[in-house]
Amino acid sequence: MTEEREGPLTPTKTDDDLEAESASEGLRPRRFDRYFGQETVKENLGIAIQAARAREEPLDHVLFHGPPGLGKTTLAMIVAAEMGVSIRITSGPAVERSGDLASLLTSLQPGDVLFIDEVHRLPVAAEEVLYPAMEDFSVDIILGKGPKARDVRLKLNRFTLVGATTRFALVSQPLRDRFGATYRLDFYDVAALSQIVKRSAGVLGCDIDDGGVEEVARRSRGTARIANRLLRRVRDFAEVEGDGRVTRALAGGALQRLQIDELGLDAMDRELLRAVIDRFAGGPVGLDTLAAAISEEPDTIMDVYEPYLLKIGFLQRTPRGRVVMPRAYEHLEIELSPDAAAGQASLFDPS
Ligand SMILES: Nc1ncnc2c1ncn2[C@@H]1O[C@H](COP(=O)(O)OP(=O)(O)O)[C@@H](O)[C@H]1O
Ligand SMILES: [Mg+2]
Repeated sequence: MTEEREGPLTPTKTDDDLEAESASEGLRPRRFDRYFGQETVKENLGIAIQAARAREEPLDHVLFHGPPGLGKTTLAMIVAAEMGVSIRITSGPAVERSGDLASLLTSLQPGDVLFIDEVHRLPVAAEEVLYPAMEDFSVDIILGKGPKARDVRLKLNRFTLVGATTRFALVSQPLRDRFGATYRLDFYDVAALSQIVKRSAGVLGCDIDDGGVEEVARRSRGTARIANRLLRRVRDFAEVEGDGRVTRALAGGALQRLQIDELGLDAMDRELLRAVIDRFAGGPVGLDTLAAAISEEPDTIMDVYEPYLLKIGFLQRTPRGRVVMPRAYEHLEIELSPDAAAGQASLFDPS
């Protein structure tokens, strides 16, 4: 049990600790100044952090949402680092019993960050523990069993809940309402990805020129995690088949052999588009039917593949299902059949 403690936040980590960690963490930046892109999020979150620090209060609860690999977990860690507090990490599916969450909450020190990844997958009972914790910094637990059981309300230290989700729509309304701010992360542009690739190359000790940086950035599906992954792969090619230096030509050749095309689409992206075109006349096709056709989980399609294909206008979601757009036909060099064209026209026809 923890008694309530007020007062200034106790920084539990020094800059040296954080530097040491970031060296071991490798590619994950620990501070805002090494977190590139997402300018709006960075600016608004930065102001909130500065204000909370000035008031010597914990930061209000924040929720990050957006496709995988855009930097939600990294931001959660940066929040803790910038606030000078410790972070405890768990995830929705990892919280099996509400008691687990209650004991995690009671162990938090003043100002600590509790990071819950995939917060949309918290069991309902755990979510109900979270409501009073977020709102009043207290948890209700039941002590004892049977007729002697009694409710006890424990006071918690004030803490910051940071939630992350790839599925904002699946976060329940009462939970959403209890976050003080919600930030949506968007795909990165080539300029921001280039900065990320450059920094990661530095961390990895990889020799890469500007052309190589741009080539990797351009083919990373707007996603930081993919940029880092592709950088490692092209480095392999440079070391094994080249002189260790990643140039535009080397990166381009390596990525082509890895089946990453000019736009950064991989074999699975293309298989998905082709399945809709070949087997469902370009769509519309329902998610589950499509998933079965390409032997993939519907969730994976929705979380991992679709967001970028929607973003670049290759796919569209309609009430009747997914439709492949003319742009994708062009890219895949497939002729748009009259049937598919007519079908599409009728879909978007307001009548
Ligand atoms: N803005 C950024 N600047 C630099 N690196 C980033 C940025 N966003 C993400 N990364 C890197 O990309 C990878 C994936 O980020 P992560 O935070 O795990 O994404 P998410 O939690 O949204 O799936 C990590 O290695 C992280 O260091
Ligand atoms: Mg994450």
